[in-house]
Amino acid sequence: MDVHLTIHGRHDLAGQLYRQLRTAILDGRLAPGERLPSTRDLALQIGVSRKTTLDVFERLSAEGYLRSRAGSGTFVAEATQGLAGRAPRVSPAAQIAAPAPATRTFTTPWNDMPDVLPTPRTGIVYDFVGGVTEKRLFPFDKWRSCVAHGLRLQARGRGAYHDPAGDQTLRLAISRYLAFSRAVVCAWGDIVVTQGAQQAIDLIARVLVRPGDTVAIEDPGYPPVRIALQALGANVVPVPVDAEGLVVDAVPPHAKLVYVTPSHQFPLGMPMSLARRAQLLDWAQRHGVLILEDDYDSEFRFDGRPMESLKSLDATGCVAYVGTFSKTIFPELRIGYVVPPASLLAPLQRAKQVADWHSESLMQAALAKFMLDGDFGKYLRRMHKEYAARREALLRHLRGPLAPWMMPVPSAAGIHMAARLHAPLREPAVLKLAESVGVGLYGTTRMHVAQPPLPGLLIGYGYVNVAEIDAGLARLAQALAKLAT
Ligand SMILES: Cc1ncc(COP(=O)(O)O)c(C=O)c1O
Repeated sequence: MDVHLTIHGRHDLAGQLYRQLRTAILDGRLAPGERLPSTRDLALQIGVSRKTTLDVFERLSAEGYLRSRAGSGTFVAEATQGLAGRAPRVSPAAQIAAPAPATRTFTTPWNDMPDVLPTPRTGIVYDFVGGVTEKRLFPFDKWRSCVAHGLRLQARGRGAYHDPAGDQTLRLAISRYLAFSRAVVCAWGDIVVTQGAQQAIDLIARVLVRPGDTVAIEDPGYPPVRIALQALGANVVPVPVDAEGLVVDAVPPHAKLVYVTPSHQFPLGMPMSLARRAQLLDWAQRHGVLILEDDYDSEFRFDGRPMESLKSLDATGCVAYVGTFSKTIFPELRIGYVVPPASLLAPLQRAKQVADWHSESLMQAALAKFMLDGDFGKYLRRMHKEYAARREALLRHLRGPLAPWMMPVPSAAGIHMAARLHAPLREPAVLKLAESVGVGLYGTTRMHVAQPPLPGLLIGYGYVNVAEIDAGLARLAQALAKLAT
């Protein structure tokens, strides 16, 4: 064999050897029929273990690049004829370090999509990030036994694909929970379980929206939904919100879908008034438009009477109701659901199957048990008290020591609150100042599309307890006071 092989360092020896031999076959330096040295000789020659050369030969044989003839050695397979010239053109050094980079560049609409996750920051001691729940109080012991139950079911199962719409027991538990807590009356068969609310929204958009269709979203609003709709080629129209929620009069009449967060407008937090709900439903019914109701965190409601969901007021089947366990349990669980209008149920089940066949069954079974045993309800009651105390603490600071610089936006639910900054404070300056004293704050400007952004903060209290809120916001007030002097 005439090929020069070099091993660098002591990392990924098998990977280095595999890539070099494969590239030599693909670029014709190792021709079909050529005999390779024995694994023992090659190991000695390049200074690796015999096991490494054996593993690499086995892999290349399994992939069809090499062929062994009993008693006479290992050869480059004849079948590699015609592959010559297909190796990516890269330097030998690059092949050693990593897989060769592709030379062709694919451009897609996704190349220009903004990142939705906040950039991770270092040195943050008190993080008021939104969308994160309190895991320190989650009953992991109970959860462990629910997961063990799920594993027992899995072990007894046939090992086949499951129903794309989700685990029947979980859907039953969700239907009972929705009837009780959100007055959404549905049977288990009306529910499709998804990977969080985000997949539910994406699937609804996929089945309904065609490129060029007009869809309406709230402005300011939840960026991942805007991006999902834009990615489908929709004409996404941002519609302003006021103190009562979405301004229904400003929705374009030819919209095919309207996305709203009526229980707790994202990011500002006010609920949609009953009058606006009635107006939106009436409008959607007259125009034959789908309302996508994202009820992402209404479980934690602190003042007043629970606001009815749009779905519970929908007599004519124009609301797709989306919920999630990301705010009640934690986001990494990735379990959400949709109760679509009957006419969209079958298309959604098909879309779910095409997307990922079905959501992972073990966690669905665990969650079903957690709900049906009453542990979910117990945990919600406990967290309701906890988040109420955190919200009170936050309001105490916003209305007290922080009042010269910001003002809370009235809201009654959820695990985040918005605050408006008083002029002339600017959002980036406040975020930077907070960071310099170890306080993680996040702005709302990036959630605006067409409406002139009012500088503000989205303050999450899922990740900080009362003591941490007190300590973090005291630091912030001190830093702001220095800024002013
Ligand atoms: C408005 C809104 N919708 C939905 C979600 C939850 O999405 P998922 O269930 O995919 O985690 C969030 C999470 O932050 C949200 O803010």
